Amino acid sequence: MSTLTNVLEREVRRAEETAAAEHALQKNRLTHHLMPPAGWLNDPNGLCYYKGRYHVFFQYSPFDPEGGLKFWGHYSCEDLVNWVYEGTALYPDSVDDCHGVYSGSALVEDDVMHLFFSGNVKLEGDYDYINEGRRSSTLHVVSRDGKHFEKKEVAIDCEQYPEDYTCHIRDPKVWKEDGLYYMVLGGRKKNDQGAVLFYQSHDLKNWTISHEITTEEPFGYMWECPDFFTLSDTKILSVSPQGLKREENRFQNVYASGYFLMDNDVVCPEDFREWDMGFDFYAPQTFQDEKNRRILIGWMGMPDAQEEYINPTAKEEHWQHCLTVPREVTLKNNRLYQYPVEEIYGLRGEEIPMSLKKMEDPDGGQSVLLYNWDAASDIEKNIEEHRSFDLELQVCGESVRVDLGKDLFLQCEGGRVTLGLSKNAGAGRIKRNAIIPSGRLEQIRILADTTAVEIYLNYGEVVFSTRYYPETQPLVVKAEADQVEGKLFRLNRIHVVI
Ligand code: FRU
Repeated sequence: MSTLTNVLEREVRRAEETAAAEHALQKNRLTHHLMPPAGWLNDPNGLCYYKGRYHVFFQYSPFDPEGGLKFWGHYSCEDLVNWVYEGTALYPDSVDDCHGVYSGSALVEDDVMHLFFSGNVKLEGDYDYINEGRRSSTLHVVSRDGKHFEKKEVAIDCEQYPEDYTCHIRDPKVWKEDGLYYMVLGGRKKNDQGAVLFYQSHDLKNWTISHEITTEEPFGYMWECPDFFTLSDTKILSVSPQGLKREENRFQNVYASGYFLMDNDVVCPEDFREWDMGFDFYAPQTFQDEKNRRILIGWMGMPDAQEEYINPTAKEEHWQHCLTVPREVTLKNNRLYQYPVEEIYGLRGEEIPMSLKKMEDPDGGQSVLLYNWDAASDIEKNIEEHRSFDLELQVCGESVRVDLGKDLFLQCEGGRVTLGLSKNAGAGRIKRNAIIPSGRLEQIRILADTTAVEIYLNYGEVVFSTRYYPETQPLVVKAEADQVEGKLFRLNRIHVVI
């Protein structure tokens, strides 16, 4: 280990120890979402199942809740709910990644874990850092136990990237198919067009470029964090484009992330579907586990969103962002559905009884399902625990409304849904819309954490992921529709050993 690595390791440990001493006092900490042990977290990286354990690496800036120098943090577990923090896996300690160990992926073969990632290097000088001044080689490192990582090697030197690309090429996703290794990299072309580059290799060491995929007309100026996988014989390309024009029902955040179902190597903007319609979702990555499930984890955050939103956890508690719960991805009705992996059911605690009342409004005639948490005298009144719950509703009707106290509502009229946040809960954000492709809202599942909520409609046909900061206590859940039935469970914490 180099002296630099030793120094960085000590500094990260110190930052994590200082942060751990504050954890008990932080009211915004999450109960079932992975968050940074200290400072800042962004993209999930290197997702894989290796020697009986799931591994989740993530972009990590332990020294500053507003981001900064990037490391790879590392969680692992056997069952997707009892996690262990394994410490920092990759340090920005080589000439090829001294300004950040950027995003990448894992490939597991013959008991070896291979990690591929982008090394960020910013040259000193008067550069625009788009067309010049930045190096971003693709690096490779091996682990034989999932804990220790060998020497970093350059897999593709940035000098070898195509001429018509800017310096922004990064985030390798690697996989194996029919005896060959493949890699996809995200990029920004010199004409400000987002695109992905495909490479091939026989030995994971020598890589040759095979082709590029992009749209005919520019669809954003940069495509970050690509993923490529096959589900039910359909090939899927996922990307996180920057620079899309905001619309009323689509692309409502600063940046988007979504996927194309591929017929051949042609992709059209009309076919791009967003993964998630909430305020906080970006740079997802998928992997296949030993049960052959395609599992997705996203970053529950958004880059460059400071103008519209001040994240209270960064300001008050010196940490920022989290990952989504692991979601199983399936292909149905020509689109991808995402739903929390079944292990999340295991976190359900006591069922909280809900009472069904008929609304008094004579025009309404709708059913109102009302749950007032305060009435549940048999449940211990621990505010933090009460803020984490799993609500599942079956609804029927042209118009459906669900309220979580005064903090959050979901309103569906016809096939259009709006997620709304109160002024306080939104911390600067108010609403997001989505069109339900099947046209009808029939099922709603809300996984609510202390300061994060994931809302799945129709078993994952549409998803909203959002940080929120509820104030209303005790919690009241109100659901209105022609017909409504529901179940509400207290949601237990995931175990995280740090
Ligand atoms: C996406 C991203 C990636 C990059 C990483 C750096 O959020 O910008 O493209 O590798 O974050 O942290």
